[in-house]
Amino acid sequence: MILEMENVSRKRDGRWVLKEIDWRVEKGDHWVLYGLNGSGKTSLLELINAYLFPTEGTVRVLGLEFGKTYLAERLRKQIGFVSSSVGQKIRPDENAYEVVLSGAFASIGLYEETNAETDRKGVDILKELGCLEYANRNFGTLSQGEKQRVLIGRALMADPALLILDEPTNGLDFIAREELLESVARIARRPDGPTILYVTHHVEEILPEFNKTLLLKEGSVFAAGNTADLISGPQLSAFFGMPVNVSWLGGRPSLSKGTMVRTTS
Ligand SMILES: Nc1ncnc2c1ncn2[C@@H]1O[C@H](COP(=O)(O)OP(=O)(O)OP(=O)(O)O)[C@@H](O)[C@H]1O
Ligand SMILES: [Mg+2]
Repeated sequence: MILEMENVSRKRDGRWVLKEIDWRVEKGDHWVLYGLNGSGKTSLLELINAYLFPTEGTVRVLGLEFGKTYLAERLRKQIGFVSSSVGQKIRPDENAYEVVLSGAFASIGLYEETNAETDRKGVDILKELGCLEYANRNFGTLSQGEKQRVLIGRALMADPALLILDEPTNGLDFIAREELLESVARIARRPDGPTILYVTHHVEEILPEFNKTLLLKEGSVFAAGNTADLISGPQLSAFFGMPVNVSWLGGRPSLSKGTMVRTTS
């Protein structure tokens, strides 16, 4: 079991932003987390990373239960987290290689001595993600797409059991997005790789490897289950409260606005 939430609710500023969440993530599955702006996706991720605690209910991540045997640092070392807020914290004068290496220590900035094995691993990761050519460039000078790849590399450095990607394709052009998704797909296919939790606003980014989906609506689980069942016209029309069509091509879905059926003449 990677993650287990039972009846989890969370209040922020006197308002419930997450309500009675029940969710289990098992090893071997990769999940998409899909929901409108403000539906609580980032708050849910903050609960997983122990940046936020549940007001009610229990959260267990990688065998650690909050408030019990729990050590936030220990947990975070086993979770790779890529989000715009992580990106904003990275020092712009640190080069891409150093940013990747800092992932071994779950630190922002590289303060510890690395050994030859860590260094080699950093290079392998840079190679795998296609970042080698800008390894010595300062993070602050990289393009959005290059930064995202470096951040994924940083997240992989500690061999996480769980890799969380919160809208990793934000600001990427079509080609950069597809290249990034190809890297994510390769990570998802690794037999010993991490369980992936992928947050997006775009169903077009749902890869065939993401076999499970959680639809989050106004802080509650609207539905959770097989991607093929949930990413469908009828399900998403109910989810949005407006008619939409879903078409599948090459194992990837795309969404378009549907037309209302006339019930009166
Ligand atoms: N630090 C905070 N203090 C108070 N309320 C917050 C805080 N962060 C988020 N919220 C509120 O919690 C709700 C859920 O926000 P959250 O950021 O989790 O949504 P989201 O699904 O990630 O949205 P988006 O798709 O826009 O990133 C929103 O109503 C938001 O205003
Ligand atoms: Mg968010």
